[in-house]
Amino acid sequence: MKPVEIKKDIYWVGVVDWDLRYFHGPSYTTHRGTTYNSYLILDDQVTLVDTVYAPFAGELLERIKKVVDPARIENIVVNHIETDHSGALPEVMKAAPGARIYCTAKAREGLIKHYGGAEWDYRVVKTGQELSTGRRTLSFIEAPMLHWPDSMFTYIREEALLLPNDAFGQHLATSGRFDDQVDNFILMEEAAKYYANILYPLSGLVAKKLKEVEGLNIPIEMIAPSHGVIWRTDPGQIIEAYRRWSGGEWKEKALVVYDTMWGSTETMARYITEGLSAGGVETRLYKLSASDHSDIYKELLETRLLVVGSSTIHRQFISTLSPFLDGLIGLKPLNRLGAAFGAYGWSRGAVKGIEERLAAAGIQLAQESLEILWVPDGKERERCFQWGLALAGLVKEAKA
Ligand code: FEO
Repeated sequence: MKPVEIKKDIYWVGVVDWDLRYFHGPSYTTHRGTTYNSYLILDDQVTLVDTVYAPFAGELLERIKKVVDPARIENIVVNHIETDHSGALPEVMKAAPGARIYCTAKAREGLIKHYGGAEWDYRVVKTGQELSTGRRTLSFIEAPMLHWPDSMFTYIREEALLLPNDAFGQHLATSGRFDDQVDNFILMEEAAKYYANILYPLSGLVAKKLKEVEGLNIPIEMIAPSHGVIWRTDPGQIIEAYRRWSGGEWKEKALVVYDTMWGSTETMARYITEGLSAGGVETRLYKLSASDHSDIYKELLETRLLVVGSSTIHRQFISTLSPFLDGLIGLKPLNRLGAAFGAYGWSRGAVKGIEERLAAAGIQLAQESLEILWVPDGKERERCFQWGLALAGLVKEAKA
């Protein structure tokens, strides 16, 4: 792929990783791959903003060479040190040994710990500091914990161009570099999955940063993140989505997530789902052993109610629930309601364990749990339906 000029004399020189299927270890499935975006500014001082994941260092340098000799790079802005963006830095520094590195104090510490590189020429910056590259002015905005302590945004004033690194990104490998070159449903689905799996627990900070940037009164014509496509046609779309997601807004939707030993809890799940649907709440049913946790977290981003069920085995829930519920505790979704159900035989325990995990995730229990001994008979199936119907009423009531 050739370098792509995104604004006059500003080039995308990143890489497309078509094959990536997991991110952050196994916790986040990236069905559609990703990109690592790096931006090259041709000016009196040639400047590179962020690099790429180390295995793609050669490809990055080849792409830079199509625009300019890498030895001419005078400034490298490191918005974030995570290895998917800084991994190629040692190779770039070999090609441009005189380059100055602009980054936060935390980023400097982290780069030295990751790569050695104590001898590199660091220029530590804070919010409000600027770098003139000639015809352009780069302003830095610290963004700690979005999503690491070292993170920052770079804003190019003359172009009204925001380079926010991970924020507003998507794990989406495509041949097009811009939002208008991909299907909008897929784009927003991947942006939501990205937010849910990476930024969800930091929503308070995201909301605060959005307000801070809004308060700067800077025009934003284009947002070029470090993953996925560049928002050039409608950057307001992703800013508005981040406002909703970070504010914990929700729709009248429910998720029923369960696992089952011999089918009794599955029968309960289906009748509960019918009750919720009959009550006018859009509901999706997920069997955990056949589902992807990171996809379910994405669904939860705009869903009010999470209903979790399991059979009891060894006085506990089925082990497939553990990684899902542990992940949920880390993500701490805002403003969600929850409820637990399950079938049991010689001992109870699953429902209590689920309720404890939901509470630890900050999810408010909406109504008393539902447990059925052995196999649900006709009356008990009706009870499951009514239990779901009552939950639907609570979702509707909360919206009213
Ligand atoms: Fe895309 Fe926090 O790295």
